[in-house]
Amino acid sequence: MAGRETKMVDLDSILRTEPTIVTAFSALNFVKLNHDQHLQLCDLLEEIADSLPDRIDERQCVYAAAALRNRVSIHHQLEEDVLFPRLMARAGDDQELRGILNRLADEHRTDEGHCEEAIELLAKLSQGMPPPNVEAAGYMLRGLFEGLRRHIAFENDHVLPMAQALLQEDDLEALASEIRRTDQPPYPASSSH
Ligand SMILES: [Fe+2]
Ligand SMILES: [Fe+2]
Repeated sequence: MAGRETKMVDLDSILRTEPTIVTAFSALNFVKLNHDQHLQLCDLLEEIADSLPDRIDERQCVYAAAALRNRVSIHHQLEEDVLFPRLMARAGDDQELRGILNRLADEHRTDEGHCEEAIELLAKLSQGMPPPNVEAAGYMLRGLFEGLRRHIAFENDHVLPMAQALLQEDDLEALASEIRRTDQPPYPASSSH
């Protein structure tokens, strides 16, 4: 399929070759870079949804499935294991924030369920197998990328500024250490289409 070149932020190769670049000072920027990666993945999923049923680029599907499999749950784990609890601890007994963070964690579960369905669909598309119900397949992909975009926009607008204001150096070092530890598994290096 002719079109623009998609180039993901190559955060993963940076982390593999130079993990010490992630420090307490840069940890929140790396969370934001994760979000940028996910937004690029959302754009790719939208292109795939728009190309259903007969303009599918199989390489795009392979790339998107690998990215969904390798990126999304690791990011959710980082937030739920480190970012959210550290933020909650610094905010004291803030029931409103607790409610917000619980809602975000619930959205992670919903998005992961949608990711599983999308990975299955993308695997079939990448093998040249059209979906039995094109409309349902497009609807499912749209539900996934629209949900991810909303979630990320909220975190960028509200959670990251709060983290910037409240987290202390030891929180940020814990975040950096988790990012370095969860170096992402290999996946296709880039997608061009
Ligand atoms: Fe999140
Ligand atoms: Fe996030």
